[in-house]
Amino acid sequence: MKTKGMRVTIPARVKGCKSLVLDNPVIAASGTFGFGREYAEYIDLDKLGAIAVKGLTPAAREGNPTPRIVETEMGIINSIGLQNPGIEKFIAEEMPFLNQYKTKVIANISGNSVEEFVIMSKRLSTEKGVDAMEINVSCPNIHRGGEVFATNPEMVELITSAVRKATDLPIIVKLSPNVTDIGYIARRAEAGGADAVSMINTVLAMAIDIHKQKPVLKQVFGGLSGPAIKPIALRQVWQVYQSVNIPIIGMGGIMDGDDAIEFILAGATAVSVGTGNFVNPTACLDVLQGMRDYLENHQINDINQLIGRAHQ
Ligand SMILES: Cc1cc2nc3c(=O)[nH]c(=O)nc-3n(C[C@H](O)[C@H](O)[C@H](O)COP(=O)(O)O)c2cc1C
Repeated sequence: MKTKGMRVTIPARVKGCKSLVLDNPVIAASGTFGFGREYAEYIDLDKLGAIAVKGLTPAAREGNPTPRIVETEMGIINSIGLQNPGIEKFIAEEMPFLNQYKTKVIANISGNSVEEFVIMSKRLSTEKGVDAMEINVSCPNIHRGGEVFATNPEMVELITSAVRKATDLPIIVKLSPNVTDIGYIARRAEAGGADAVSMINTVLAMAIDIHKQKPVLKQVFGGLSGPAIKPIALRQVWQVYQSVNIPIIGMGGIMDGDDAIEFILAGATAVSVGTGNFVNPTACLDVLQGMRDYLENHQINDINQLIGRAHQ
C-alpha cells in the first residue's frame, strides 16, 4: 500500500490559515505518549501520522497526588491531572527532539481561562515544528477549567474563537464524552472556528478498594480509557459526524486495525491510539498495519473512501 492511499487532510477553514496533512491517519494520543522519547526506542516515530504531545499548561504542573491510576477489567482510570513541564520547558527541551522527525506535532493545551489558551496558542504558533493545536477543554482531572469548559457550550465556542484569532495553525477541539448532547457541543466548536474535533477524552469513572473501604484514587474520580470505552466513543463519533461538517479524529479503546476501521466507518478522518500504547509500545504502528491490511483485503485503494461509509 502506497502512502498516498493513507494520506488524510484536515483542511483550513479560514483563508490564510494552515491545513494539517497527515501521511497516515494514526496519531499517538495526548498523555499516553509523553513527548515521544520513550517510544523512540520501540518504533520509528517517522512512521506515525502525528504525535499529540502530553497536555501543556502555561506553568509546570506536578499533577495530582497518588494513587492516580488504577487498572480495571477493560481499561484504566487515571487522575494524573496534567503533569507537564510547562510550555517554555517544552519548547526548549522537547521541541528540538521532536524536530528531528518529520512526523507532525500536535500541541495539546489546557488552560484555566480563555486568556491562558490564547497566550499558549500565540506562543506555540511562533515555534518551528508545531503543526496544529489541540484545545483540551475536556480534562476530567483538574479542578478549574477542564471539564467545566467542555460541558459548557458557550465556553467551548468562546475558547475556540479566541484561539482562532490567536493562531494560523489548524485548531482541533478535544471533546468530552461526559455530556448529554455531544453533537451540540461539537457544533459550537465548529461555530467558533475549529478545523476539526478530536474525541473522546476519558469517561468519568471511579473504583473502590473493598479492603480499605475507600475510593482507590486520591481524587476519588478519574477518567476511564481503553477497550471499555470503545462502544461509547464510536456512538459519539457517529453522532458528531451527523452534526458537523468538519473532520473528526476518533479515539477511545483502539487496540488494533479493525478497531480503527470501525471509527473511520463511523465518520472519523483519523484515529488516535492512547491506552493501547501502555499495553504494547508498538500499538500505533500495529494499528496502522492492520488498517493497511483491511484496505488491501477489501481492495480499497484510499482510506478516504471509507470515512463515514457506515452511514450510507
Ligand atoms: C494517562 C492518561 C493521560 C492523558 N492525558 C491527556 C492529556 O494530557 N490531554 C488530553 O487531551 N488527553 C489526555 N488523555 C486522554 C487520551 O488522549 C484519550 O483521549 C483517551 O485516553 C481515550 O483513548 P484511549 O482509550 O485509546 O486511551 C490521557 C489519557 C490517559 C490514559
